[in-house]
Amino acid sequence: MSQRPSTLAEIFPEPPEDLDVQALDLDRVPQHVAIIMDGNGRWAQARGLDRGEGHKAGIRAVREAITTCNDIGVRYLTIYSFSTENWKRPKTEVTGLMELFAKTMSKEVDGLDEEGVRVELLGRVEDLPLTTRTIFKKAAKRTRKNTGMTLAIAVNYGSRLEIVDAATSLARDVAADRLSPDSITEDMLSQRLYTADMPDPDLCIRSSGEMRLSNFLLWQLAYSEFYVTDVLWPDFDRYELLRALLAFQKRKRRFGKVS
Ligand code: IPE
Ligand code: IPE
Ligand code: MG
Repeated sequence: MSQRPSTLAEIFPEPPEDLDVQALDLDRVPQHVAIIMDGNGRWAQARGLDRGEGHKAGIRAVREAITTCNDIGVRYLTIYSFSTENWKRPKTEVTGLMELFAKTMSKEVDGLDEEGVRVELLGRVEDLPLTTRTIFKKAAKRTRKNTGMTLAIAVNYGSRLEIVDAATSLARDVAADRLSPDSITEDMLSQRLYTADMPDPDLCIRSSGEMRLSNFLLWQLAYSEFYVTDVLWPDFDRYELLRALLAFQKRKRRFGKVS
């Protein structure tokens, strides 16, 4: 693995004046951060550009978020890249996104591997266009043994579909007499989600101000902290991420208990 910056001053070298980088407690960094990367279209529209340009600009922000999370010790970063509902967008936008995913992963896989990042895929990957699917799967295979942060890419991901698939898989076992309906536990269902073996997100960030989940990790976000910023995704840099992390560290998580 390459030598990565490790002090806060190295990771966040040029903070805006209102941001106290040293306030981040590196011993209390969320283990799992999930991001709904929203606002590429509005970013482009505000500049009189095509929506596709917004998606391209969003890639820079993703790359920065990955490296920063890995450097500060986040163990899992899940990024919502394409939902099962996003197929309803104009064909040119969808095709453009699929090409952008393929191109970006081909270009970035060496660097991700070098940084020790392990790529995982969440979603109905088999329904992606062949080139995109092949490149994504290759990246996952190649980085499988890496021990740095897990980058879970939610692509062609829909949480309701994921839960239905998990329920179907349990039902199959019941039908085949391998499982009794009364013995089904929360843990068993969790283990049949795409995120089996991953801890639930501690923090879920959504850019561009919308306060909704848009079919993202409905089960897994049950007790996650939410952080919504008006910043549009292409403008979401490491300092915006730091703001989210600082807000997270001020929260009191109760999990239903009295504290
Ligand atoms: C998020 O940005 C990217 C994807 C959903 C792929 P949008 O494209 O949703 O941007 P807005 O919400 O239209 O601004
Ligand atoms: C959620 O954003 C999906 C991704 C970020 C990939 P959308 O832009 O698709 O969500 P809605 O349509 O505003 O709810
Ligand atoms: Mg959107």
